[in-house]
Amino acid sequence: MEIKDINDINSTALYDRISIDQMKDLAREIGLDKCPDLEVIKKSLQGRKHLIEVGCGYGRTFDWLINNTSVSLKGIEKSKQLYQIAVAKKGTRISIELGDFLKLPIENKTYDGALLLWIATTDYSKEELNLLIKQLKKGLCAGAIVYVDYLDTALGISPKNAILQGSDGLYQVKGLKGAKGYAYIPDFSVIQSAFEQSGFSHIDEKPYITSTNRKKIHLFELSV
Ligand SMILES: C[S@@+](CC[C@H](N)C(=O)[O-])C[C@H]1O[C@@H](n2cnc3c(N)ncnc32)[C@H](O)[C@@H]1O
Repeated sequence: MEIKDINDINSTALYDRISIDQMKDLAREIGLDKCPDLEVIKKSLQGRKHLIEVGCGYGRTFDWLINNTSVSLKGIEKSKQLYQIAVAKKGTRISIELGDFLKLPIENKTYDGALLLWIATTDYSKEELNLLIKQLKKGLCAGAIVYVDYLDTALGISPKNAILQGSDGLYQVKGLKGAKGYAYIPDFSVIQSAFEQSGFSHIDEKPYITSTNRKKIHLFELSV
């Protein structure tokens, strides 16, 4: 089974349907509300100036970023209901845009960092992942770092609510009341080679744990 447009399916069937409270509860259950993912990359983030967060959701990361770094952040969010919560938190260092990152015009070579958190890459099929990387490359300056959150698949642990559909890394996400969707979770080597083929180098990985999984933030640097 292979699905090429996971991103649009998830927008309408998952992110436009899950309630904001459900999403916040999920973050709390997992332990992501305390931002352990950002804590492990704190030092690196403190060296950044202009970040972009692809799919910023309701703005889980904003307070932590404001309190712990001096970055300015542009958040892009495709779901109108999540955008409305995020945009209410905008401030001098935070701006938010509603739209599909895969299709939005992006300022050339503007950002020195990009956040793909809460295993954000799983919202993109293999084809969509390549479009995502192409867009990132356009907006990032040389030496920029992409922070890619990923499950420690070496442990063979599946995310909560995700049921494997076949052998190609496609999962169906269920158990969120009416909201459901797909997750593309191949072996990390597939993600790594997609970045490497586009001129990024895998420079570091920072492990952390949530209440449900062992995870890593992978750092990919765009070559000069
Ligand atoms: C799992 S949530 C993560 C939210 C946030 N990054 C965090 O760590 O709390 C993924 C978010 O990405 C958004 N998203 C997915 N694809 C997108 C796209 N192509 N453009 C903009 N937002 C997108 C979804 O609507 C959803 O809010």
